[in-house]
Amino acid sequence: MTPIRFTCLWLALLITCPVMLIATEETGELPDGYEANKQCFQCHGQRFYSFDNANTGLTERKAMNPNFVYNADVYYQGVHRNFACTDCHSPDYETWPHSAELRLEPMYSCLDCHGGDPTYEKFHFELMDEEFQKSVHFEKIGEAFTCWKCHDPHSYRRMTTGEFKISEIVSYHNNTCMGCHSNSDHFQLFSDDLKPGLEKIHHFLPNFKLHFSAVRCIECHTSSADTLWVNHNIMPKENSVRNCVECHSSSTILMASLYKYQNIEARKERGFLNSVILNEAYVIGANRNEYLNLISVILFGLTLAGIIIHTIFRLMK
Ligand code: HEC
Ligand code: HEC
Ligand code: HEC
Ligand code: HEC
Ligand code: HEC
Ligand code: HEC
Ligand code: HEC
Repeated sequence: MTPIRFTCLWLALLITCPVMLIATEETGELPDGYEANKQCFQCHGQRFYSFDNANTGLTERKAMNPNFVYNADVYYQGVHRNFACTDCHSPDYETWPHSAELRLEPMYSCLDCHGGDPTYEKFHFELMDEEFQKSVHFEKIGEAFTCWKCHDPHSYRRMTTGEFKISEIVSYHNNTCMGCHSNSDHFQLFSDDLKPGLEKIHHFLPNFKLHFSAVRCIECHTSSADTLWVNHNIMPKENSVRNCVECHSSSTILMASLYKYQNIEARKERGFLNSVILNEAYVIGANRNEYLNLISVILFGLTLAGIIIHTIFRLMK
């Protein structure tokens, strides 16, 4: 292959690659809104945007509000990947400068589209809504705290079914909460408080970092009596789990929550706990693992055999 042809091939790959990544997810086809969204991503996909100023005749380059910047790859992995931006936003956004009145446009809620729809029955939208309305967020902040505050319309994806590792599920969930609780820019959209850091609040936990990468916030902040696939009733801090034994015991609460998302197939093959432990999660105090048991029996057996052989040799001398 000549160097020029080689370069061309690479260039072609480079150009088509992002499109291929987006397209091959599931169907192999491009998401429905892909073409229409290009215009929006041209500005909302990066930190700077340029436009032709009709008054001066110049092409100007300006900084985009960082809260209005979205990553196209992440968008096309989300549950609403097939949407055009203008399915949820007014088509008037196609004009720029955007009209100031558009800021007041009412937005859809999840239930506007999913409520009462049998296709989505298994997600229990109505029940989630009920549970959410009991949560501290709704109690304290009210209607302004919509489902969108955690379900970013431009990125939300499902992690609790499929082939995700426990560490991936945990980090996705915790980033949702920490997006506000560790980010005062977002937190202060709702509160004048500058909250103390999460590490300070949770000082009772040894090795805070490890815990926050191994369990989700909702393990401790929702009731274990909750039967939803993903618990949505965040309780007041007084009711949160502080007792180590709740997790560090063979009847760990994590079985009914975090570990239930494990691949059902693996669970059938290896048994529930083993599939979890082999998937990398390991909780001190909850380790009834058959492989570990086997190893300890073998070690015990070997030790015993060693002692017996030793004794026999001594007796023979
Ligand atoms: C030429 C660049 C450009 C294009 C193209 C563009 N936008 Fe924007 N958009 C902006 C800028 C800059 C802002 C910040 C506020 C402003 O200047 O109106 C913004 C703000 C917004 C807002 C937030 C308004 C608010 O203040 O709450 C929405 C929603 C929005 N754009 C949607 C879209 C959609 C949907 C498209 C595609 C149909 C689009 N934009 C195309 C530059 C652009
Ligand atoms: C599934 C519906 C949906 C789709 C699709 C959607 N948005 Fe949004 N968008 C929303 C909602 C709802 C809000 C308000 C979020 C909130 O209240 O936190 C919003 C807010 C925004 C904002 C303002 C952010 C802010 O913090 O106020 C911008 C800018 C924006 N969207 C641009 C886009 C662009 C560009 C696209 C396409 C790439 C798009 N949206 C696709 C539902 C959607
Ligand atoms: C404007 C209508 C609309 C709104 C608002 C909306 N959705 Fe959706 N949602 C849809 C449609 C349509 C689909 C199916 C998309 C597809 O198949 O490509 C979907 C898909 C989903 C899925 C994936 C379903 C599956 O079978 O995997 C989930 C989960 C979901 N939405 C949750 C939400 C949540 C949570 C909210 C609110 C934060 C919300 N949706 C708001 C219309 C909407
Ligand atoms: C405090 C944050 C938060 C709020 C508020 C919130 N959710 Fe969620 N929700 C989550 C997280 C985190 C997930 C898990 C995402 C994942 O890993 O699949 C989730 C998952 C879901 C799912 C998918 C369940 C499944 O089977 O995978 C639905 C449906 C849902 N939420 C609906 C809602 C609705 C409706 C509202 C508003 C009434 C709402 N949520 C408000 C954090 C929140
Ligand atoms: C091991 C259980 C556990 C985990 C995991 C956990 N928390 Fe907590 N959290 C608690 C307990 C217990 C308190 C009450 C502390 C107190 O009042 O001294 C608390 C308090 C809080 C408070 C109230 C702070 C205040 O004083 O206003 C917030 C906010 C909070 N946690 C957020 C989070 C977030 C976000 C995560 C995930 C990144 C998380 N927690 C993970 C147990 C936990
Ligand atoms: C959009 C921002 C935002 C997100 C996302 C968010 N929170 Fe909060 N949360 C708040 C605010 C604001 C308060 C403070 C309410 C007050 O004290 O006025 C709060 C309060 C709390 C409290 C303290 C309740 C008390 O008794 O003082 C806990 C616990 C908590 N959140 C946990 C969570 C968990 C767990 C998640 C993720 C599932 C989460 N939050 C996601 C904004 C957020
Ligand atoms: C919500 C469940 C949960 C609660 C509550 C909890 N832990 Fe843990 N803890 C875990 C998990 C899961 C791990 C495993 C992390 C790993 O090694 O991957 C862990 C790990 C540990 C470790 C090992 C740290 C290391 O350096 O290897 C110690 C020690 C520990 N926890 C002590 C405690 C103590 C003390 C408490 C009570 C104050 C407590 N935990 C409460 C879930 C929990």
